[in-house]
Amino acid sequence: MNPRREPRGGRSSLFDGIEEGGIRAASSYSHEINEHENERALEGLQDRVILLKRLSGDINEEVDTHNRMLDRMGNDMDSSRGILSGTMDRFKTVFETKSSRRMLTLVAAFVVQSTIFTRASVAILSSNGLKRFSFASSFSSNALYSSPLPKTKKRRFPIVSAVDINGVTIARNDVVRDDDATNNVPDSIFSKLGMQLHRRDKHPIGILKNAIYDYFDSNYAKQFEKFEDLSPIVTTKQNFDDVLVPADHVSRSLNDTYYVDPQTVLRCHTSAHQAELLREGHRRFLVTGDVYRRDSIDSTHYPVFHQMEGFCVFSPEDWNESGKDSTLYAAEDLKKCLEGLARHLFGGVEMRWVDTYFPFTEPSFELEIYFKEDWLEVLGCGVTEQRILKQSGLENNVAWAFGLGLERLAMVLFDIPDIRLFWSDDERFTSQFKKGELGVKFKPFSKYPPCYKDISFWISESFTENNFCEVVRGIAGDLVEEVKLIDSFTNKKGMTSHCYRIVFRSMERSLTDEEVNDLQSKVRDEVQRKLNVELR
Ligand code: DAH
Repeated sequence: MNPRREPRGGRSSLFDGIEEGGIRAASSYSHEINEHENERALEGLQDRVILLKRLSGDINEEVDTHNRMLDRMGNDMDSSRGILSGTMDRFKTVFETKSSRRMLTLVAAFVVQSTIFTRASVAILSSNGLKRFSFASSFSSNALYSSPLPKTKKRRFPIVSAVDINGVTIARNDVVRDDDATNNVPDSIFSKLGMQLHRRDKHPIGILKNAIYDYFDSNYAKQFEKFEDLSPIVTTKQNFDDVLVPADHVSRSLNDTYYVDPQTVLRCHTSAHQAELLREGHRRFLVTGDVYRRDSIDSTHYPVFHQMEGFCVFSPEDWNESGKDSTLYAAEDLKKCLEGLARHLFGGVEMRWVDTYFPFTEPSFELEIYFKEDWLEVLGCGVTEQRILKQSGLENNVAWAFGLGLERLAMVLFDIPDIRLFWSDDERFTSQFKKGELGVKFKPFSKYPPCYKDISFWISESFTENNFCEVVRGIAGDLVEEVKLIDSFTNKKGMTSHCYRIVFRSMERSLTDEEVNDLQSKVRDEVQRKLNVELR
């Protein structure tokens, strides 16, 4: 649970009124234009429409040619992408310079009325009713059963109907529940349960976990017990109450956390196990596991990732000799331990401590390391709140705790550019890592071309970006690289419009126009059906 969300940045208004490859029917503006004026303008615009039509036809053709060329060129496609994006830029520039915003509106209205659609605008404008939400998940090693392809509906991937978590079979219907309004676990998340990337010795996450184990084993021989198979399905008491997360804390919301039912969640941090392990009598331990958070989409955020929690209890005899106050003693020991860990992983790096806040520690700190000319936050930690220790009868003790995100460290250590890669079964990824080899630099096998699609809608009060991202992820799975808000405004009536740019890109192959248009069209249908928004 991270009370302070990381800044995303880079969200600016780029343009309004144009969607890639076509003109958006901006119906919201049409009604603001006086009818008489409209008619006059329409007459004068017919010629321009013909011109624009020809132009968009030409450009579509050019885009197609480039796409085909890109497909052929496989890995060596960077320069072609430049040409393609230049083409698209020219396309936009032509529209921007030839059309004022009003003119665009009129053209768009005219195009819609006359059903003269460009190929891309058909995809953008069409809204073919209620399509069933179909989830895309890759086959996973933990998937016990997969539904066969239904005869009538074409699914990209089968729905996983049961998973195995440490030998226990969990049925989909127990975790993904349409009948419970609190339940917000989608199939895409269910299929990840039990995958436990941290237990794969040849996977970067597993390699990193083992390197951290090595550090503790060699510096604190046999002192820290290791837990790595605790179920990620926990109670709200474990996830929040036991670690003193306030009742009104944002992390408890349905927007931030995956709820199975009102009392059960997918853990959003490994801190969820601190209290139960203390109650069971454990005093020094490391807990590694998959954690789940609803979030937006970009190359460093994924709704499932892995954390390691460290916990260390001291008795009075530990600090008495030092002559130090117990909290200071624990804080100093914590810092010494984690600085050593950072050096073990990164070598001689520059580090700094930043004061912060966590509900479960006081004082609380973050460790940052200087990496590639920037300060990078690597972990959160602190001296455990006495109330937590007291719950387990440890009122005469003091403890420190830390929590670190394995993906973030692994991306830096192995040079992995996109967090989705951790989930890839592609041999070109998996074969690059060997057991025990920390920090082997990943060699990107290819960068396939991205495809950008914009979607605009009037939001309702209940709209949240996390919900939107969930819909996109549910349809496009790991084919979506990024979702960013590129424009937002509120009209005179107080209605707020958002325009999001979705970046589709596979890490394994080139996507076809057809497939991306199909995904985008499904996103449009689904967003309208599920999120109570009005497409523009
Ligand atoms: N649970 C915190 C998070 O997910 C990380 C953390 C911070 C864990 C401080 C700790 C701690 O044990 O003491 O962001």
